[in-house]
Amino acid sequence: MFFSWLLKKKKTVSEEYHNPIKNPGLTTVLIVYGSTSGNTICLTSVVEQILRDARVVLDSRNVVETSPEDLKKYDVIILGASTWTGGELQEDFKSFYDGLKTISLEGKHGALYGVGDSSYPHFCKAVDLLRDRLKEANCTIIIDSLKIDGKVEEHFEEAQEWARDLVQRIYRLEN
Ligand SMILES: Cc1cc2nc3c(=O)[nH]c(=O)nc-3n(C[C@H](O)[C@H](O)[C@H](O)COP(=O)(O)O)c2cc1C
Repeated sequence: MFFSWLLKKKKTVSEEYHNPIKNPGLTTVLIVYGSTSGNTICLTSVVEQILRDARVVLDSRNVVETSPEDLKKYDVIILGASTWTGGELQEDFKSFYDGLKTISLEGKHGALYGVGDSSYPHFCKAVDLLRDRLKEANCTIIIDSLKIDGKVEEHFEEAQEWARDLVQRIYRLEN
């Protein structure tokens, strides 16, 4: 119920977004998230809210509707993914991850977050896999990754604090 509400809310919000490419001179930010049971969507909403409150020019998309080429249109790329069995990437991220190998993100800046469970081996490994792939594409990582252990609802403050720190780092790119 909660997640279906979130999904509906995200659609409405996404429709409200303006195209960041129409705002030359501003740092444009894209969040790409992938989620199997809704937890990363929940975390994405927390991060998005802080960025939007700070008037960051932001677009946010599910990885299933995003291609690696799309990343080239933005200055800052934020990837959010959960980790699954044996430290694997969230299912929807797999082809996107393969596609990242073929592009250059020279001059772009990146940040990563994810949800996992430290009772499994390879805690939040998907975040590290994606970070390494961004680095291989010559994207500069501007903040340590946020890794949420367990229930997102119990870590809202940690997520908000991380997002506020990220906002400051994005602002610095503009100066
Ligand atoms: C079968 C299964 C395997 C999992 N494997 C891992 C793992 O290897 N590492 C980890 O950090 N979390 C692991 N998790 C925890 C998930 O990443 C966690 O439930 C996360 O909140 C799912 O986020 P999502 O709903 O956004 O996909 C696993 C969960 C399940 C159910």
